Amino acid sequence: MTIISNDIAKAIEILNNEDVVAIPTETVYGLAGNIYSEKAIRKIFEVKQRPFFNPLIVHIHTLEHIEELVSEFPAKARKLAATFWPGSLTLILKKKSNIPDLITAGKDAVAIRIPNHPVTLSLLKKLSFPVAAPSANPFNRISPTSSLHVEHYFKETIPMILEGGECENGIESTIIGFENNEPVLYRLGAISIEEIENVIGEIKIKNKNEKAPSAPGMLARHYAPRTKTYLVDDVETFIKNFKNKRIGVIKFSVEIKCSHIEYLEVLSKSGDLKEAASKLYNTLHKLDNLNLDLIVAEIFPDFGLGKSINDRLERATK
Ligand code: TXA
Ligand code: MG
Repeated sequence: MTIISNDIAKAIEILNNEDVVAIPTETVYGLAGNIYSEKAIRKIFEVKQRPFFNPLIVHIHTLEHIEELVSEFPAKARKLAATFWPGSLTLILKKKSNIPDLITAGKDAVAIRIPNHPVTLSLLKKLSFPVAAPSANPFNRISPTSSLHVEHYFKETIPMILEGGECENGIESTIIGFENNEPVLYRLGAISIEEIENVIGEIKIKNKNEKAPSAPGMLARHYAPRTKTYLVDDVETFIKNFKNKRIGVIKFSVEIKCSHIEYLEVLSKSGDLKEAASKLYNTLHKLDNLNLDLIVAEIFPDFGLGKSINDRLERATK
């Protein structure tokens, strides 16, 4: 059985013992283990049923620790770190040799982030090692934004979930790597491209359809509910084709009335994309547990966090 508790001392004991603990962050819950413990890291991959070619993000609590982990820290990366950390940005930087290959899937660069959650920052401060933490969901399933989501997935397999409430941003961190010292966006996320470009100027976006993606998070099928999901421009017209089906609908801000919708969720009545992003996964979890025939989501505005929401919804349809 999994303990769900805010007892940081207990989480430290478990992590020191080379086991894993689910931790809250402002994006999604992560499944954490000591980066230097092969036992803990193997358990993360095993519990998530994650293939070893998919590397993990290292979480630290202060910029001072970055020198121990990376061999290069380009000026634009420093600027981003200074602006957004602690926060929902992951930087992929050339690694030092002390970082185990299991963490980086043998790559020469490591993904790093300082999360912005008081419980996890306080945990990280008390540990003598950084933790690797992928999102606390089985491979290809919807990421968890509450301890209950994690419990639903892993109650038989992990000893503890550190309680930290609902994740404020509710969507994974934005990932930025560097190619020839120029920044490249690997994953859309909780910080919009516009916010990033305000700090470092225009950035290249990694082609989603590349055969060998640099971040396997860019693989087409990811973050997926089990219920067949569609992403469409005009929900009302689309669902007319499904008269005798049980339908769940996700809309941005404007309600629709239609007798054969079983469940309708409007993500932000005031049209706030940040609010919508924060509710997206919780809504997908909810709809996916209703045994519906289909989920139909509306395409979000193609700017700011709307781009990140569309990215996750597109993957959910694959
Ligand atoms: O918001 C987040 O980033 C959450 C919280 C828990 O911090 N973590 C998270 O981790 O989303 P995960 O493992 O679910 O997604 C990390 C993504 C994966 O797509 C992985 O392939 C990519 O980051 N990644 C990790 N290390 C990498 C590396 N060295 N090079 C390229 N991609 C990397
Ligand atoms: Mg993930």
